[in-house]
Amino acid sequence: MKFFLPLTVLLLALASFVRAADDPAEGVKAATKVREIFEAKCLDCHGPELPRPKGKFGYVLDLKRVADNPDYIERGKPDKSDLFKMVEDDEMPGEDANVPPLTRDEKDIVKRWIELGAPDAPQVAGETTSAAPKTAEAKQLMPFWKRLLRYIGRMHPVSTHFPVALMFVAVFAEGIAWWTRRDSWLQTVRFLVVLAALGAISAAALGWINAYFASYVGQAAPILKWHRWLGTGTAIWAVVCAALAMIHECREGTTERQRLRGALLLGAFLVGVSGFLGSALIYGLDHYAWN
Ligand code: HEC
Repeated sequence: MKFFLPLTVLLLALASFVRAADDPAEGVKAATKVREIFEAKCLDCHGPELPRPKGKFGYVLDLKRVADNPDYIERGKPDKSDLFKMVEDDEMPGEDANVPPLTRDEKDIVKRWIELGAPDAPQVAGETTSAAPKTAEAKQLMPFWKRLLRYIGRMHPVSTHFPVALMFVAVFAEGIAWWTRRDSWLQTVRFLVVLAALGAISAAALGWINAYFASYVGQAAPILKWHRWLGTGTAIWAVVCAALAMIHECREGTTERQRLRGALLLGAFLVGVSGFLGSALIYGLDHYAWN
């Protein structure tokens, strides 16, 4: 019992000495852990496979490249490293993310990694396979009906091609009707616009489902908002067009026909703008720029 206190002191001193000695193995360990943390919490938005990573930052697992970027990391100085500040303040992964913010422990690991000079760690063979079951596990946490719903929502982009094309073709057919003055063309217009309305309703419904599972932050968030409401409005307008075409006889030269014609033109315009905003969510607002 007499030796207990000195022994403890000695052990503690020894332990702190081992800690203080910056052995290179600690750097590799920290780097490996940091990569695991980034893989779990940043990959959705900054992964290398994304066509448009958020903030044009798509290499979060390439620690060497991250550490070499002075905008993100100042080696040895976490407080001057923007990347650390972002995770420390829970700015990243952000409120809209599907993942929770970093825990205190995880933040400390990132901090320690930068203090150690933000070293790289060799990619261990099989690391990706060890991470795979983790994601599979995470997917299992979602109940089946939810995963099914998410899957159905993914049909939104493909479904939108129907109302877009049908609405444009309806305007084209209406143009021929006007040019040829043949009432028979009205049948074609009716057929097209009713299908367009049905397609628009389905596309809008799928869009709401799809957006529920998506996380758009930063610049994309307001685009999603506009796309959502304009898309919903377009679907309603397509139904109005279909109703105008069906309810009245719409003979050439009548006011009803003129009204239908105007409604179709507006519908085609709306469907075009909604479609553009939708693709801007994937490819960015400048995706029609020449360069
Ligand atoms: C839900 C999506 C999402 C997740 C998850 C996410 N980020 Fe981001 N991140 C963004 C967006 C969006 C931007 C661009 C912000 C802007 O430009 O205003 C961004 C920007 C950044 C930037 C600045 C890039 C630049 O050059 O401007 C860094 C660094 C960053 N994120 C780090 C991280 C880290 C580290 C994680 C994980 C801990 C993470 N992010 C997780 C969405 C995300």
